[in-house]
Amino acid sequence: MDNKIIIFDTTLRDGEQSPGASLNIYEKLEIARQLVKLNVDVIEAGFPVSSPAQFEAVKRIAEECTAVITALARAKEIDIKTAYEALKEAKKPRIHTFTSTSDIHILGKFGDDKYGTSLEEKRKTVLKMSYDAVAYAKTFVQDVEFSAEDAGRTDIGYLSEVVEAAIEAGATTVNIPDTTGYTFPSEFGNKIAELRKRVSNIDKAVISVHCHNDLGLAVANSLFALDMGARQVECAVNGIGERAGNASLEEIVMAITTRKDLCGYTTNINTKEIYKTSRMVSGFTGLVIQPNKAIVGENAFAHESGIHQDGVLKNKQTYEIITPDTVGVEHSKIVLGRHSGRHGLKARLIELGYHFSEDELNTIYDKFLKLADKKKEIFDEDLRVMMGDKIYKEKDLFELISLQIQAGTNSIPTATIRIKIKDTLLQESSTGDGPVDACFNAIERALQIKPSVESYNVRSVTSGRQAMGEAIVRIRCEEKSFTGRGVSTDIIEASTLAYLKAINQQFIFTNTEIELDDNYPILKMA
Ligand code: KIV
Ligand code: ZN
Repeated sequence: MDNKIIIFDTTLRDGEQSPGASLNIYEKLEIARQLVKLNVDVIEAGFPVSSPAQFEAVKRIAEECTAVITALARAKEIDIKTAYEALKEAKKPRIHTFTSTSDIHILGKFGDDKYGTSLEEKRKTVLKMSYDAVAYAKTFVQDVEFSAEDAGRTDIGYLSEVVEAAIEAGATTVNIPDTTGYTFPSEFGNKIAELRKRVSNIDKAVISVHCHNDLGLAVANSLFALDMGARQVECAVNGIGERAGNASLEEIVMAITTRKDLCGYTTNINTKEIYKTSRMVSGFTGLVIQPNKAIVGENAFAHESGIHQDGVLKNKQTYEIITPDTVGVEHSKIVLGRHSGRHGLKARLIELGYHFSEDELNTIYDKFLKLADKKKEIFDEDLRVMMGDKIYKEKDLFELISLQIQAGTNSIPTATIRIKIKDTLLQESSTGDGPVDACFNAIERALQIKPSVESYNVRSVTSGRQAMGEAIVRIRCEEKSFTGRGVSTDIIEASTLAYLKAINQQFIFTNTEIELDDNYPILKMA
């Protein structure tokens, strides 16, 4: 059996389903380009039928990126056709179709009588749906992947029938997801071994696994499955994804690479691009990496105790099983400052893996100068944070023009803000329980809205006294959450930017316009 493991990256699909993560088309394209540098074999670019923005992102990635590009589709003709439309310019397109196979899912999701009245009848319908979906996808592309959702909790006899039918219909990859992250490594691995015994045509398809991390076992389950014969592993950068996330790409790859002596597997991954990719994904999604996260956490290569430090100074191998440069960890350097020119900035950003047009460089340079005014020394991490701050903009409706705050011991916090909407400037003031509350209140009064704030977090994302503060605000509107991120050396400004961004996301998503009349605090119109 070939020992080459296919790395299927789902950062842009399952990863983007992480609560609070939302990426615009430009950010997705930028991450996809970085995934190509990382040399993943398959990029799952999105779920095209779910929204026009998803469709467009998959289309742009398919047109530009050289890896196998895949898109998700339920076992429905409209989903499959739409996925094909988005993928058709790809050099190597793959349609990924799926249906649920566990009894819990079949009874819970296909309760309707049109699927049958008993479990047995419903199972028959699902079996046929799986076959038909693959056969239909096959009329568009050669490369078709079928996933049996909640395979981890699916009866092995029935799962074998579904997998066999999908392969008979032409599936080239059959994916076995542990959708709810419920299984133990031996249990999940044995499921793969059983499938290889029971499914008569299994040698005609690659077996893939897709493990979620609800019990913290996603990587262990994936590795056990490889030992039992799976040859594709689905994973996401920084382990992001639904709920507790997916198996982490960097952990799987580095486990395989570091313990090649034990497992003998190889991947095509360029491990030196891991760190860059991880920081880019964190910056764009706003999903923070825990400091002790394996491989890419801030502390992954830090040695704290005297005994460890002494050992490492004498011989790195005493406490280091991976050298930081294997995964491309750079030591933070002062790279730029207030006197740096556009060329210096451009060159460093390209080295850090970013792409931008000359127009975008103008915006970036303006942002850089503002940052350099506040901060004397600009490190790579500052540049990454700055680039994560919605540089690749979709048109925002509301723009923060200025903010003034009065706060202190024994005074009532008061904020005055100016917001631009198209060619109109609004100005409003408000008090609050603290300066952040005063800013939020002023925004609400100016725009005459009252979103419900679901969560609000602030932290420093670079180091030192002049550290950049990052604020993440999540608001809720009609059953849907919208997240905004703001960064600044001033945490009140970061919070205000984050709140306004979340409101912008809500307005863009719901396609809402604002009709300005005399009730709004209009300062001036152009
Ligand atoms: O977790 C899951 O089952 C999935 C499938 C759609 C592959 O994400
Ligand atoms: Zn999943």
